[in-house]
Amino acid sequence: MKRILVTGGAGYIGSHTTLELLDAGYDVVVVDNLSRGHRSAVEPARLREVDILDTPSLVRVMQEKPVDAVIHFAAYIAVGESMQNPGLYFRNNVSGSISLLTAMQEAGVRNIVFSSTAAVYGMPTVVPIPETLPYAPLSVYGETKVMIEKVLAWFGQTHGLRSVCLRYFNASGADPAARTGEDHEPETHLIPLLFRAIETGKPATLFGQDYPTPDGSCIRDYIHVSDLARAHIGAVEWLLKGGESRHFNVGTGAGYSVREVVDAVARVVGKPVPHTWGPRREGDPALLVADSSSLRNELGWVPQDSALDRIVETAWRWYHR
Ligand code: UFG
Repeated sequence: MKRILVTGGAGYIGSHTTLELLDAGYDVVVVDNLSRGHRSAVEPARLREVDILDTPSLVRVMQEKPVDAVIHFAAYIAVGESMQNPGLYFRNNVSGSISLLTAMQEAGVRNIVFSSTAAVYGMPTVVPIPETLPYAPLSVYGETKVMIEKVLAWFGQTHGLRSVCLRYFNASGADPAARTGEDHEPETHLIPLLFRAIETGKPATLFGQDYPTPDGSCIRDYIHVSDLARAHIGAVEWLLKGGESRHFNVGTGAGYSVREVVDAVARVVGKPVPHTWGPRREGDPALLVADSSSLRNELGWVPQDSALDRIVETAWRWYHR
């Protein structure tokens, strides 16, 4: 049985991927310092409460039993916070990743799947976005992901480390069986904030209705977190079969506007969503949609749960558990 080490496995995407790995017959060990993740999201016997900056402890986890590949989620994810506290982001996301790579080298682990982001493209000049667009991050968060993509390329060249960087678009939804779901504090993502507005009656603020899009609001490529998790299984299989290092976008190729998401939430929940329209949020591109043809063609990945109503329905089931 192949053993996979998942960093950040107590977080949103990490906990879903851990479940998919177990369902697919892998053995999984999770490393998480629980600074943002949730203890309840991981089976206690699989959890090692370790900070990724602690290289010797990471080596020890990798030496408990041989690890075939690492999936590296552990990172801070909030664009706004990264602009207020860049040091925190460079330390955790960049120094932490380098500590992990050092530990992998020491333990002889040669395969890694890395959580990257559409934020590496900034304001894209071509939509749907192909992986070949140059890096142009607009935030410290995006820059930390660019930096590690580059570090991975250099480790590949110098040490033969093989990596797959998955650039996520808008992860959303929850495990259809509600075994885990989205639970950020503070929450900044659109769909859970719309649920909160329904629950509290306090209107959600929607950022900008004067974009050059058909209804004036921003368009995003919402990808169900279980489909995203399955892309990681595909990436691990690719590496274990000897595939070369790659970058793949993970999105559906379909975009929905903020207004369409609000309508979907109202439809699925069966209640109106209290909201007001505010100004644009700084740094938001009008349109972010993935060209995911490489992932589909080369890894055979097909999204199964990413219809907008399915995303909202699973997210609501978890939110309202
Ligand atoms: N939005 C609102 N009101 C809110 C929150 C969001 O109108 O209170 C809008 C945003 O302006 C955007 C859309 O809803 O148009 C989606 O916003 P999210 O904050 O849910 O997601 P983002 O597209 O900003 O960010 C996501 C990830 C980031 C990642 C980025 C990559 O959360 O980590 O995609 O493009 F960097």
